[in-house]
Amino acid sequence: MRSILLASVMGADSTEREFWDNYRSETPLLEGLRVHDPFMGGGATLIEASRLGAMVSGTDVDPTAEMMVSHSLGPAQDSEIATVGDAMMSYLREHFSVLYPADDGEPLHSFWLAIVECPNCHVSNPLYRSLVLARDCGKDGAVVRDYGVVAFDPDTFELRYLSSPTRKRFQGVERRWPLDHATFDANKYSCPDCGKRSSHRELQTGAAPLRLIAVERTPDSERRRLVTPGERDLAAIELAAELLENPPVPLKLPDIEFDTERQDPRPRSYGITAVRDLFTPRQLLVLGAAHAWIESQDISDAAERAIRLALSNSIVTNNRLCSYATDYGRLSPLFSIRGYSIPALQVELNPLHSNGGRGTLQQCLSRIIRSTATTAKRSIWNVDKREVEKRPFKLPPKASRVDIHCSSAADTPIQHTVDLLVFDPPYYDYILYDELAEPFRAWNPTLKIGGETLQSASLSEPGEFGARLADCLRPALSAHNGRYPIVFTYHSSNPTAWEEIALALDDLELRITAMWPIRSDGHMGPHSRPGNCEWDVVIVCRPSLETCPASVPGADQFWQSHVGELRVGDADHTSFSLAYQMAAPRFGRLIDEYSHAPQPGGTNGRVWP
Ligand SMILES: C[S@@+](CC[C@H](N)C(=O)[O-])C[C@H]1O[C@@H](n2cnc3c(N)ncnc32)[C@H](O)[C@@H]1O
Ligand SMILES: [Zn+2]
Repeated sequence: MRSILLASVMGADSTEREFWDNYRSETPLLEGLRVHDPFMGGGATLIEASRLGAMVSGTDVDPTAEMMVSHSLGPAQDSEIATVGDAMMSYLREHFSVLYPADDGEPLHSFWLAIVECPNCHVSNPLYRSLVLARDCGKDGAVVRDYGVVAFDPDTFELRYLSSPTRKRFQGVERRWPLDHATFDANKYSCPDCGKRSSHRELQTGAAPLRLIAVERTPDSERRRLVTPGERDLAAIELAAELLENPPVPLKLPDIEFDTERQDPRPRSYGITAVRDLFTPRQLLVLGAAHAWIESQDISDAAERAIRLALSNSIVTNNRLCSYATDYGRLSPLFSIRGYSIPALQVELNPLHSNGGRGTLQQCLSRIIRSTATTAKRSIWNVDKREVEKRPFKLPPKASRVDIHCSSAADTPIQHTVDLLVFDPPYYDYILYDELAEPFRAWNPTLKIGGETLQSASLSEPGEFGARLADCLRPALSAHNGRYPIVFTYHSSNPTAWEEIALALDDLELRITAMWPIRSDGHMGPHSRPGNCEWDVVIVCRPSLETCPASVPGADQFWQSHVGELRVGDADHTSFSLAYQMAAPRFGRLIDEYSHAPQPGGTNGRVWP
């Protein structure tokens, strides 16, 4: 975002060195400018613009987005968040540590299998994709274990410890098992009794009984260990169910059903119909007590918001759709795959664990405290050495004027002029933000969607999304003073998604004056799956009136010189070529009299009518 913001205000003839000098500078180069993002989301654009000294404004229909951006731009004191967080942790540990009995080390992860009933023969059996629970094959950053493989015997549910991570089979109690033995593959469960294949929808896997098959413990000064659940572990599970009926402290639980009109039918389709059903009794107790506790505290609004954000993070890592990266020993949170997919092996984190594991409450609190930091580390290109440098960076004081709204961009007039309009609109029907955020709203019932989401338009007539995108941009464009271009990023391998962009640009009478690819999610592990785009396309526009049609650079020029040796997958190839087809007939060049872009921080600014 920093590079896009800086490029937006630098003249087209700036050199590479000038660009990187600005990039590495701690001078607030956007001071005096107003930056607006109509689709602010978590606020990447606005946060970076504010770090560059700009005054920022934005909208998002999602109330969680408003909470995040308000926190990032005007956080509570880190000391207050830490004090409140510590008090909350002591309270939760006092009442609920009993649910996570520490025998030979604190429990960190609990492994659950769904026992599903075959719709054909009505015999119940465990559903699993593999017999391996954890493996140490020496991957970088992975947990180091005493054994190469820990697997379970599906006849007895006993654990087996195998020394070599490359072992293919093991001797079970009744027979020899291949480690890759599965009752679930290619999205279907095969009944071991009658052979009938069924989907999660047919099995209603989300409502099936669960069986605890292993607990991973973290003994002091020893390696992590997976063990068969002991009596105390099983008693804790029973106790949780009882306490939920008869809570020892006040609880604030989500009580909404998942919307029946969801675009993505999951998780309703496989049997999880209420937000509550996404959680185990232990998770409901801990999260429910935390939400009730925070409401009862006499603390600043900003501190309450920070704690609620930490809790919202912990919701993503403490629910029944979390799985486990077997070769790394790490929890995979819900939404790492951008949807409510149900894992074959459900892994429950101990949210009260004192030091380990991503997604514990303690970690979520530390993360929110870190987000108030006044320094950041940046990767900067060194033009002389031709290499990346990591450099600590002093951040400017938090913004004094913040103007953000939880409302649809289409319905929000802007009361001031906007110098720079930088945004990334929803990617047509990909990533259903409002559906993904439903659990957060359920845990925080005061949060309400602030208007009609743009994605819902993808369900209507062709052209609807484009027209509504144009409606969302109109208020910002009428406040835009034209000094700098209008810049957005987008990607999609769906032709319709690009056709709708074309409609919006034509409707708004905008021409494209530049376009280039930029790496986005590729480094984000679980996002990089075949079929997902890992690049975004940066699209720079100007009002048609200020441009004349221009010949289009060859397709290669848009991509090759920018991509270099980096990998471009099939989905991105498609996205690039669709972007090119969309842009070619809309390409323009800024007419000279409009092209004297003032340099950042300079005083030669000229305000266009
Ligand atoms: C691609 S995301 C933006 C991500 C953002 N740049 C960030 O840093 O997180 C698109 C956002 O548009 C929001 N959105 C969808 N419809 C909207 C509307 N009509 N008005 C404003 N925001 C909307 C979604 O809630 C989502 O947060
Ligand atoms: Zn069967």
